[in-house]
Amino acid sequence: MSDRPAKILVLFYSRYGNTVKMAEEIAYGAKELSNVSVTLRRIADDVPTEIISQNPEWSKVVEDMNNRFPTSSIDDLVKILPNYDAIIFGSPTRFGNMAAPLKALWDRTSKLWMDGALVGKLGSVFTGAASVHGGQETTAISMMFPMLHHGMIIVGVPYSVPELSESGSPYGPSRIVGPMANKQIDDADIKVARALGKRVAQLTQKLFKD
Ligand SMILES: Cc1cc2nc3c(=O)[nH]c(=O)nc-3n(C[C@H](O)[C@H](O)[C@H](O)COP(=O)(O)O)c2cc1C
Repeated sequence: MSDRPAKILVLFYSRYGNTVKMAEEIAYGAKELSNVSVTLRRIADDVPTEIISQNPEWSKVVEDMNNRFPTSSIDDLVKILPNYDAIIFGSPTRFGNMAAPLKALWDRTSKLWMDGALVGKLGSVFTGAASVHGGQETTAISMMFPMLHHGMIIVGVPYSVPELSESGSPYGPSRIVGPMANKQIDDADIKVARALGKRVAQLTQKLFKD
């Protein structure tokens, strides 16, 4: 890597904006190091616009996300994955699992898998869920399966991050968003998210320095 910046992609899907907040904090943590380039990209929702437009509050959130993080087609997003040293994936918890749009993206990566295009890259995950034991850990682990099949090296959050006893898990940052998905992100959530971002950046620099 020598002089070139460590390249980190934070790739997320979000319906109501909570996963976006986590993505931003993770990016913030990664950028605490110099010579790191962080790109945030969003996977589009699979809900038709006609449905979203029936709910003014939801429409507003989606409009804001569209303005700040314009989406690309899944195939365009798949194409950019090999350009990064590390990829941090974010998804809301959906019945204890990653959300369908993120799974759909993985299901389009057969060519990358055949080419070994992601082998040796660093990978991390983050999530959020409505309730305290709503499946954050199973979701985080579900997101790791495709990464392992692609030969990626998984990075979690160590217990040396003191706030890990209040938010997230060793599998990755996660937060409780409440039943209406409107609970504010708190200080411990932010600290764990930033710690993960910083850790991925540090390891990327160490692993890919040549
Ligand atoms: C189809 C669906 C399934 C969900 N499954 C769970 C679940 O298993 N456990 C839970 O605590 N929350 C669950 N939720 C709540 C979401 O995890 C929560 O709204 C999400 O983390 C908000 O993230 P976002 O604002 O980025 O969309 C579910 C939501 C939907 C729409």
